[in-house]
Amino acid sequence: MAEPFGKLIYTQEEAPEQVISKAETHTAKIEAPDTVKAGEPFKVTIKVGPHEMRDVHSIRKVELYIYEEGRPFNPVHVATVEFGPEYTEPEVTLTLKLKKNSTLYAITYCNLHGLWEARKEIKVEQ
Ligand SMILES: [Fe+2]
Repeated sequence: MAEPFGKLIYTQEEAPEQVISKAETHTAKIEAPDTVKAGEPFKVTIKVGPHEMRDVHSIRKVELYIYEEGRPFNPVHVATVEFGPEYTEPEVTLTLKLKKNSTLYAITYCNLHGLWEARKEIKVEQ
């Protein structure tokens, strides 16, 4: 039977034995403050790798979602960045502003090794 889509996204805790060795090179590193002020812009840098960026094998995109505390429906999609192979590195800096305590989810897509989740909690001072 087909798996629910959520089961197709690898996490550091839940990746099958045969793919866990790929976690380090496919799970994004999210660089952001642990605490921010409500509504104040701040920088988030998402880096994947080191990972090759060739036509045949590369990180093709990163999607960023936010789980916002208290929101009836989550997550909120906030950005998608696509990377062209050969000429880019899988790294991007975005400016965000949050309203409430949130968890950032960065979902990486590698054309050979699938989808990988990284997450970071951010406290929001009102
Ligand atoms: Fe890969």
